[in-house]
Amino acid sequence: MAGLVADRCDDARAAAVLSELVRDARRLVARGLTLGPPPGERAWLRLVDELDVDAWLIVWSPGAATGMHDHGDSQGIVRVLRGSLLERYSVRGRTRERVRQLRAGTTTFLARGHRHDVVNAGRAETVSLHVYAPGLTRMNFYSVPPASEPSLRETYPVRP
Ligand SMILES: [Fe+2]
Repeated sequence: MAGLVADRCDDARAAAVLSELVRDARRLVARGLTLGPPPGERAWLRLVDELDVDAWLIVWSPGAATGMHDHGDSQGIVRVLRGSLLERYSVRGRTRERVRQLRAGTTTFLARGHRHDVVNAGRAETVSLHVYAPGLTRMNFYSVPPASEPSLRETYPVRP
């Protein structure tokens, strides 16, 4: 597996959870494809629900997008199991955004405070695994005025 990326996560348990889940990737893809999100949306299933780590299986229909957000105090690891995602992200202190494609089989580390917008820009459903440590407690969503720093728009509580 892309261990080098998972190793960048300083939470060994999160990396271990991801490794364990990826061993069952074929079954997870099949499970994800049964979630059936409406056109342009996502559907998800929480696979692990603990305070120190949680894991989500997400299926993205074509055009589904998150909007610009971060993951509160959690760091994360994303593994694309099928399809691909386009990630638009900003590096703190810099206004210029970057874009990268997350292809099937790749693993991406998200440091604490990583702010991004993720979209399925392809024509087929994408299935991805997301592991967070500690488990997600909130996600902050930002509005992004053209050519300026995003401003906090909404905080979405994940865990009461
Ligand atoms: Fe995210």
